[in-house]
Amino acid sequence: MMKEKLEEIRQKAVSEIENATDPEMLNSARVTFLGKKGELTAILKSMKEVAPEDRPKVGQWVNDTRKAIEEKLGAAKEKMELEQMKHRLANETIDVTLPAKKNKIGHRHPNTIALEEVEKIFVGMGFEVVEGPEIEKDYYNFEALNIPANHPAKDEQDTFYINKDILLRTQTSPVQVRTMEAKKPPIRMIAPGRVFRADEVDATHSPSFHQIEGMVIDKGITFSDLKGTLQMFVQKLFGKDTKVKFRPHHFPFTEPSAEMDVSCFKCGGKGCRFCKGEGWIEILGCGMVHPKVLKMSGIDPEEYSGFAFGIGLERIALLKYEIDDMRLLYENDDRFLSQF
Ligand code: DAH
Repeated sequence: MMKEKLEEIRQKAVSEIENATDPEMLNSARVTFLGKKGELTAILKSMKEVAPEDRPKVGQWVNDTRKAIEEKLGAAKEKMELEQMKHRLANETIDVTLPAKKNKIGHRHPNTIALEEVEKIFVGMGFEVVEGPEIEKDYYNFEALNIPANHPAKDEQDTFYINKDILLRTQTSPVQVRTMEAKKPPIRMIAPGRVFRADEVDATHSPSFHQIEGMVIDKGITFSDLKGTLQMFVQKLFGKDTKVKFRPHHFPFTEPSAEMDVSCFKCGGKGCRFCKGEGWIEILGCGMVHPKVLKMSGIDPEEYSGFAFGIGLERIALLKYEIDDMRLLYENDDRFLSQF
């Protein structure tokens, strides 16, 4: 009676296991037959109704049945896993003949190309390339450059102050002072670098841009040296037919001061869309280093004189590469950069 019952359970279990098509069905068969509330457990619980002398025998039958079902379950599970694996291997093959993904190669930024060109020209004329800090003392950025405390450029609106004495430099001119403090004339240096001003972003403005400062200090330096040097510079940069024109201007740290224009390298000075019909393009500020600036930096203005200039790097890059919006220089759009 008991034996038949167990055999019946075993057969039911086997057929359920054989019909299982996924791991969940296998698991539910395991629960039905072997689980705590399963059919075999129920039989074990009813052992007390079995005559004591028959109990070992019946117990053995129950164990045999459990073992048989467990083995069947194990085998079915293994088979299922094997099939799953085969399926995955077939589906996840890698086609080694597919074309490889190309890595894009970066490009030098137009600012970098322009700066390297400017540096090459000045180094060729015996200038040294130096650098100064971007976080600067008010003293170097303003005071030592003869920019008085009430000067409009010192206004919070134009300058990023970190505290009363420390700011983000608004120009590379402080490197003039640092160089004069550190070196004895003759000095011939350029100082490229990043500068900061509290400007809104538009086609011609950015809160952060780059300048290239230049300075020459020696005995007997005159405005002719300034003119000759800068003329040579722009002829190397824009072509040997480039003409220069100086317009009087004011900078607190130079006296006299000027702005320098170059003849338009597109139309040669006739006037075109590029130079807005002017024939001339403004390119830099310059002048003879103010005697007060020399003196504050420890150089005797009776013995030495010098000239200085400040070039906007972005301006050079935009002109040279005929880019009409400065924002393009800061977006790092690969479609833009890859053209240089
Ligand atoms: N620092 C000036 C500016 O940011 C540019 C400049 C003008 C620099 C004349 C010079 C100079 O060295 O001589 O507008």
